[in-house]
Amino acid sequence: ASNTGITDKIVLVGFMGTGKSTVSRLLAEQLGWRRIDSDEEIVRVTGKAIKDLFAEGGEAHFRSIETDTLRNILQSDAPAVVATGGGAVLREENRSAMLAHALVVALKADEAHIVERVSSDSSRPLLQGDTAANVRRLLEERRTAYDFAPLIIDTTGLTPEAVCKIIVEQR
Ligand code: S3P
Repeated sequence: ASNTGITDKIVLVGFMGTGKSTVSRLLAEQLGWRRIDSDEEIVRVTGKAIKDLFAEGGEAHFRSIETDTLRNILQSDAPAVVATGGGAVLREENRSAMLAHALVVALKADEAHIVERVSSDSSRPLLQGDTAANVRRLLEERRTAYDFAPLIIDTTGLTPEAVCKIIVEQR
């Protein structure tokens, strides 16, 4: 209800591997809106892989680029479903911008599902090395990071289609 009036942007937040990409694709298709993935946008604009941005300037460098990119995405006019990187919520500036411009939806998943989903993909710099241990540590660090979202969905046992349905109905 706190988002009444903001009807043409939906931002998906959540830990890595909670299904933001998949759900954003389905949702955009269903609503006939464009889909924007902030990580893809960062790669497009900088011409560099996320991994390389971390390697070059560390996490802080990446977060600054991420903040600029998100601001631009959120200020654009066209209706959009926006998938964000798992750490985009860490900066207060980003959380405020998201809440001001969109319905923010947080996707939650349990640790085992997350580890399963992220294990096949080695592109995430924060998970290099012992993936399961890194997921555990970051989940603990970010335990309440996604709670600012007015709509929080525990995706356990839900298909991406079912998650979409919940979002569309709550909109
Ligand atoms: C990050 C999540 C990644 C990506 C970067 C950092 C994080 O996005 O932005 O590797 O800090 O949680 P996904 O959540 O899409 O994997």
